Amino acid sequence: MTKQSALKGLGFHVPDKIVSNQDLEKIIDTTDEWITTRTGIKTRHYAEPGIGTSDLALEASLKALKDAGMSPGDLTHIIVPTFTPDSYVPSAGCILQHKLGIPGIPSYDIAAACSGFLYGLENARALVALHPEANVLVAASEVISSRTNFKDRSTCVLFGDGAGAVVVGACDNAASPGRIIDILLTADGALGELLTVKGGGSCTPPLLDTTIGPEYFVQMEGRDVFKHAVRSMATVCKDILAKNSLSTDDIDLVIPHQANIRIIQSLGKKLNVSPDRIFVNVDRYGNTSAASVPIALAEARDQGRITPGSKVLLTSFGGGFTCASTLLQF
Ligand code: ACO
Repeated sequence: MTKQSALKGLGFHVPDKIVSNQDLEKIIDTTDEWITTRTGIKTRHYAEPGIGTSDLALEASLKALKDAGMSPGDLTHIIVPTFTPDSYVPSAGCILQHKLGIPGIPSYDIAAACSGFLYGLENARALVALHPEANVLVAASEVISSRTNFKDRSTCVLFGDGAGAVVVGACDNAASPGRIIDILLTADGALGELLTVKGGGSCTPPLLDTTIGPEYFVQMEGRDVFKHAVRSMATVCKDILAKNSLSTDDIDLVIPHQANIRIIQSLGKKLNVSPDRIFVNVDRYGNTSAASVPIALAEARDQGRITPGSKVLLTSFGGGFTCASTLLQF
């Protein structure tokens, strides 16, 4: 029988530098009041110049390995979900593998924007089904401050840097803590133009000795993204619950992508889940894209919001568009 998978260890890391709304007031035409009421964000963390996605991933990975009672040498595969890799080549996965000091094991990145972590989990689950002895590191990490246009006030206030990691391995029975009950992934490429980072890609290649334009940074039709995010996450959550003969009443904690408090509140209403069963940390970290769900998952567990027996529903939405949900049993 195909082996089921479980999260064996969790960890997260954010850089030390905290940037408040008041700090942003000094460099762009904005106010703490606007950012707070429109997004719920108060602070975000930025990596120092020269710190890459793999550096944040390394810190989160070491914590996840410690939590799992493992050392780097126990890993068999590395997956780094990110849209802000250290470089196009080599991948952040290969750089992380080198920093962990474990040559030889397959290592790669996944590009699914803010849904990257859940896409990575599904890859990990498939690897465990193929190789029951596998211990797959999924280390979602972003340095979005490197792709933030600080002349565009409608996007630059939204994002932060950080990393969240899990180790996924086979579990023996339905009582194993952190068991992945199911994962649902979707995408709608027709809507891709609403949220982009095009500059430097093959259709918008960099040209020697020219200055770069706003297309090198996150560009977004905020209102459209907002509507699609709420609708799509509600749908993919309802679908995974129905598929597993569960209702939202069976869920102890919903951990949604942390993009905007109003998106999270609208999702809660659509799912008929009260705020006390929805985990929120967007106020402190902003939107950390692929890292947002694993950071929230690890923090929720550390805060005692997830206890033995908890059923947890994860959901994410991001550029592509991509959307996903996951059911976990602790
Ligand atoms: N400070 C002050 N005013 C601002 C700012 C700012 N930082 N940004 C925009 N404004 C102004 C606009 O210029 C506009 O002014 P105008 O009416 O004079 O033209 C006004 O505020 C309203 O702008 P909107 O863009 O319509 O504001 P909206 O209420 O839609 O909020 C926001 C903008 C916060 C971006 C919202 O659309 C949103 O959250 N969208 C979802 C974005 C998101 O979370 N994306 C991530 C999901 S996917 C992923 O994670 C990659």
